[in-house]
Amino acid sequence: MPEKQQPLAIFQSLRKDAFDALEEAPDFASICRVEADYLGKNGRLTHILKSLKEMPEQERKIMGSAANVLKKELEEKIKLKKAEMRKQPFVQHANNFVDITIPGKKISRGHLHPITRVLREVAEIFESMGFEIVEGPEVETEYYNFDALNIPKNHPARDMWDTLWLKPLENRMLLRAHTSPMEIRYMEKNNPPLRIIAPGRCFRYEATDATHEFQFYQVEGLMVGEKINFSHLKGVLEVFLKRLFKNQEIEIRFIPAYYPFVEPGIQVDFRMNKKGKWLEIAGAGMTHPQVFKNVKLNPKSWQGFAFGIGLDRIAMLKYKIDDIRLFHSGDLRFIKQF
Ligand code: FA5
Repeated sequence: MPEKQQPLAIFQSLRKDAFDALEEAPDFASICRVEADYLGKNGRLTHILKSLKEMPEQERKIMGSAANVLKKELEEKIKLKKAEMRKQPFVQHANNFVDITIPGKKISRGHLHPITRVLREVAEIFESMGFEIVEGPEVETEYYNFDALNIPKNHPARDMWDTLWLKPLENRMLLRAHTSPMEIRYMEKNNPPLRIIAPGRCFRYEATDATHEFQFYQVEGLMVGEKINFSHLKGVLEVFLKRLFKNQEIEIRFIPAYYPFVEPGIQVDFRMNKKGKWLEIAGAGMTHPQVFKNVKLNPKSWQGFAFGIGLDRIAMLKYKIDDIRLFHSGDLRFIKQF
């Protein structure tokens, strides 16, 4: 074995190899690798140290002392190199050394949009009154948005909804102007008695102002049973608004209104603290017999009420916002207040 023939020359070459490798080590990990190569469990110097016990005494003394001198020298050099490397700019050994003392980047937390918050609260209140929550498509057919709701073609009532028709026009598809189509979709597939709310986005081709947007949210409500009457409608709306506004002094008023899918029909206005301006928040009424016929239900057996609440308007009242256009303006100064 070469170790036995030229014992001290072995240490010279080991020393040279190790020191060269340390000098060339570009980063912290490379220094650690050199350390393992020479002083690790299976390192070259460790190997010699382990084999000392098999050597004759004379040789063991010489080899042992030379090995220990080199070991100490190497340990010191490695310590020094590591200290030097730590002082270097972070980028030079970024992959191998993480300075845990550098403050982290602050991750900004998002939060729910005020409309989403109100929607969740509204859903919770109606759920507690036994209403199921259903959802439907924003792109609708003319049939569900109009015909099935007793608003035939050329009926003047179609003018009440400034509709956004989709091309090609002959397909008679549109962006739903209200959530009432969901009444039909639900009753086609489910038999009464039933209680649902259908929240969702609606679209209208109309000039915007402080209380009108071209896209807004409605919450449709429908309750059908054998003996459902107008007082149930009033009771449900009152309980809903009282809970949403945490029993503040709220007032609602019903004004006769025309919607072809209810009879009688009403407009629901709302105001707080017995003063302030009345704001129209919903259309409602007792389901028209023709609507029951359109979903193959017998109007003599079933009665029901329906309503369509403007969710943006409710959010305006709840958060005291005086311009509906702020909701979709994308202005972070507004959104961050919630
Ligand atoms: C309707 O859309 C009926 N589908 C409501 C209904 C349902 C009546 C069931 C009877 C039975 P109307 O167009 O009035 O009705 O709208 C209802 C509510 O939606 C309004 O009271 C208002 O709160 C809200 N709304 C209507 N248009 C806009 C708009 N451009 N921007 C914001 N909110 C609106």
